[in-house]
This record gives sequence, C-alpha cells and structure tokens, in this order.
Amino acid sequence: MLCPRYISVSFLLFSLSLHAVNCAGPLYHFCFSQENYTANSPYGTNLNGLLNLLSTQVSSTGYGLGSSGEGQDQANGLALCRGDVSTTNCKTCVVDAGKELDDRCPYKKGAIIWYDNCLLKYSNIDFFGEIDNNNKFYMWNVQDVENSTSFNPKVKDLLSSLSNEAYANPKFYATGDLELDSSSKLYGLAQCTRDLSGLDCERGLDCKKCLDTAVSELPNCCEGKRGGRVVGGSCNVRYELYPFVDA
Ligand SMILES: *[C@@H]1O[C@H](CO)[C@@H](O)[C@H](O)[C@H]1NC(C)=O
Ligand SMILES: *[C@@H]1O[C@H](CO)[C@@H](O)[C@H](O)[C@H]1NC(C)=O
Repeated sequence: MLCPRYISVSFLLFSLSLHAVNCAGPLYHFCFSQENYTANSPYGTNLNGLLNLLSTQVSSTGYGLGSSGEGQDQANGLALCRGDVSTTNCKTCVVDAGKELDDRCPYKKGAIIWYDNCLLKYSNIDFFGEIDNNNKFYMWNVQDVENSTSFNPKVKDLLSSLSNEAYANPKFYATGDLELDSSSKLYGLAQCTRDLSGLDCERGLDCKKCLDTAVSELPNCCEGKRGGRVVGGSCNVRYELYPFVDA
C-alpha cells in the first residue's frame, strides 16, 4: 500500500513567495475525483444546489456543511472561512471559490480550493468527520531568517500551543503571537474544519491530531523561512513575521 501522506507531499511541493499578501486569488486547488458528471445531470443539479446552500450558510457562521440529493447523485460539501473573516468577505470568497472550481475542475465530482480567506470542498463521497490526508500543500516565504537554530523551535512552540487552543475552541480556531526580541514578533494561526467536531470529544481530538501532524510537517517546507503554511483539507497552520489576521 502506498502511504497517502507520502503521495500528497511528493506531488505537492512547490514554492510561492508570500509577498503578495493582499492578493485575493486562489492559493491552490485539486480536482481530486477521477469521476466526471455531465451537464444537466442530477449530480450537476445537486452540486449547484449545494454550492448555493453553502454560500448561504457561511454568511452567518463562517462555516457551512451539507449534502444535496441522494444515493449516487449526492453532492457533499464543506466551506470554511478563516476565523477572523467578516461574513460579507466570507460569502464572497465561497461564491468565488465555487466559480473558480467550475473553471479549474470542470465536471469533476470532487474538488477542493483554498484562498487566504476560505476553503471549499465538494465530493460525491461523504467525507465528513474524517481527516483529509490526501489534499495538502505547503507554502513558504522564500526569504530566510537570520538564525534558524533559534527561530525554528519558537515557530514550533507557538503553533503547538495554538493547536492546543484551537481544538478546545468551539470554532476550532486560534491565533496568537510570541515576542522574538524587542523589535520582532512571530504571528501564528491554527484552524480545523468544524466537521471534525461533534458532540463527543473524540472528534475534537481529530482536530488536534490533524494540527499536530501539520506542525510536525513544518520541517518539510519551512525550516528557517520567514513565513510558512501547512494547508490541508481538514486543518491548517500558518506563521509569519507580520500580523495577518484582523484582530
Ligand atoms: C473524466 O474526464 C477526463 C477528461 O475529460 C477523462 O480523461 C477521464 O477518463 C474521465 N474519467 C472517467 C472515469 O470517465
Ligand atoms: C543562533 O542561535 C543559537 C541559539 O540561540 C545560538 O547558540 C547561536 O550562537 C546563534 N547563531 C548566530 C550566528 O547568531
């Protein structure tokens, strides 16, 4: 058996400079399903209905989850905005995400796309409540810090403590900062998709597991880099040397 994590990591290594912080375009996407649907098919109709439903749901809570249709034609989807994003910007992001996936993954039954502000995923397979180990990518700032020996452990400390905060928070979201010296601070974020939550605490532990894995993968991309992200279908962590969320 192939290890799914190895596959995701090996396919996805790529580098992006994070200078364009105000750019609202997509970060990355996968058309992960091998299955196609056709125009005017029940799946296509259900998917459209689902995308409308999700964009309505995110307007109130920043999170949407739902299914449309039944059996083989059922479309299942999830939308999540970063915890600080306003309801208006959240809805805009999710609506754009749906259009963008329609362009980038035409007639694919399963796809996922990430922006700074949101993620959108849909599939004919019910994926709710399961950690997504397949759809994952890394991003890093191409610039190095001066002393990575002292810097890397601080990144790990901050993101590990934010992971512990995030999974205990009902929104599965935490941000924070850590003083590096008198003139610089490290800023971090950890967030899970809320389908990993449930009434039982078992599910909250999946959020923690997902985040712990993400933090442990930082050395694959981001050692000594001035900014970095491990971004998956169920959780993501990010750090920068500048503030990147709205207070
Ligand atoms: C889906 O469409 C793609 C591109 O048109 C094609 O290469 C592929 O074989 C199709 N998949 C199936 C399962 O029919
Ligand atoms: C980098 O940081 C480590 C740990 O704090 C320290 O021992 C080392 O001297 C520093 N290296 C430089 C070049 O400043």
